[in-house]
Amino acid sequence: MTEISSHVSMVTVTLLPSRDQIPTASGTRLNELLAPWGGESPCGGQGTCRGCRVKVISGNMPVTDKQREVLLPRELDEGWRLACQCRVTDDISVIVPSSQPVVLADDTIERSVPEEGYGIAADVGTTTLAVQLVDLKSGKVVGLRTGLNPQSSLGADVMSRIEAAVRGSARDLTLNIQNSIASMVADLMREHTVGPVELKRILLVGNTVMHHLFCGLPVQPLSQVPFETPNSGLVELPTSSLFPFLNDATQVMFLPCMGGFVGSDVLAGISAVHLLSADGINLLVDLGTNGEVVLGHDGEGMCASTAAGPAFEGARISCGMRASDGAIWRVVEENGSLVCDVIGNVEPRGVCGSGLVDAVAAALRLGLIEPSGRIKDGKLLWLAGNIALTQADIRQLQLAKAAVSAGIAVLLDRWCKGTRHVESLFLAGAFGNYINIRSALQIGLFPCTADRIMPAGNSALRGARRLLGAGEHRFSHIANIVSHVKHVPLASDPAFFDHYVEQIPFPEIPFSTRYERGSE
Ligand code: FES
Repeated sequence: MTEISSHVSMVTVTLLPSRDQIPTASGTRLNELLAPWGGESPCGGQGTCRGCRVKVISGNMPVTDKQREVLLPRELDEGWRLACQCRVTDDISVIVPSSQPVVLADDTIERSVPEEGYGIAADVGTTTLAVQLVDLKSGKVVGLRTGLNPQSSLGADVMSRIEAAVRGSARDLTLNIQNSIASMVADLMREHTVGPVELKRILLVGNTVMHHLFCGLPVQPLSQVPFETPNSGLVELPTSSLFPFLNDATQVMFLPCMGGFVGSDVLAGISAVHLLSADGINLLVDLGTNGEVVLGHDGEGMCASTAAGPAFEGARISCGMRASDGAIWRVVEENGSLVCDVIGNVEPRGVCGSGLVDAVAAALRLGLIEPSGRIKDGKLLWLAGNIALTQADIRQLQLAKAAVSAGIAVLLDRWCKGTRHVESLFLAGAFGNYINIRSALQIGLFPCTADRIMPAGNSALRGARRLLGAGEHRFSHIANIVSHVKHVPLASDPAFFDHYVEQIPFPEIPFSTRYERGSE
């Protein structure tokens, strides 16, 4: 242990096998230290999910009572610890199971009003961050930085971040995210030799919680019914205090939220897929802890967020994890058994959202799960190695899919007088990009046929880039979307609960019939 002053002693955490060294003050909580290095804290450090497990190879890391409750004696003997329950007081070496999630970017050229200089489009996600440097003259992406949201050590989802903020960590959450984005912008400018005067503007998009935390706004209103906030508008931020290497001529804006938990990532997505101007009734769906659904038709629309829970992100599932090395991400049935594909072709460590949907869909087709959701013949649905789904895991998926499909049903009920024909359903975000559409239909997630569903990639980032290059039309375009897409609060809507209950079972219709019979 190194003593650098009379008050603070420093210790070093060495990551294996890379041998990267992280010096830190003695007493630092291990999961907070490891968050920027891919360490996960799915339950927000409550000590209940096992998702923050690391293996201590050398150095002293005492076992606490909580860890004895959660880890097996064999795991403790092998050096496994829950990072959220450990404070580093000694030099240690640890293996952090690789968990860098896939960050979806997008570099299609958006038509722009040409101007000299550069701009930054930033997607501030709950899990990941993506920042692009754009040449405003050509509309081309010239640089990209991606990373993990450093707030992850305080919870995997927006509700955990709200809880952490309300418990007193709001300032830390704000500084964490501001500093991360600032260093990504600085890296891009350095790498592409862009000077401060050349950077014209920075546009940030994100869900309502990220909007509030980045802008230093209070999140308490989002912690209770009716989950509405008075501070949902566009925020112009003080450039030089957030980005000390820039001067105030660079405009920094976090785009406005649409209402409730529907943020500017959705606003940007609406712009990216031209949801309001496409023919017919179109849907944009972002599957996450808060599933966001938007209906667009003839220049108008409605949006809502549904509390799907974190199952689609692999959290609060007994063996759930992010889509990263070791995650079962695809499951198919072969000769009556389930066959799994694992990211990185390594030993399976858990199952991510797309693997969960696939596994349940395949098990339904094989009759291993009943339409009610009950696992036949036993308590576990074995996938691969020692990875299995429990009855509670399947229930979590049922609740998640019921929340999303009920949200869509409410919007369709409210909007459609006659036909409910959905022209296109755009699936936003990383999960939407990797989910098997056939499996999603099998579990009853969407109200249309496979040919109507299209992954939209990172539509938030693409939309931010589109607005970045829209010249002065940017403001009217944003105002048009905000004023023409009405937010529908679902929490107090009795129709939502009726649909929700109805949607909990899996569809009874044989998959082959459902898949081929044409729209609706
Ligand atoms: S057990 Fe440590 S974050 Fe969940």
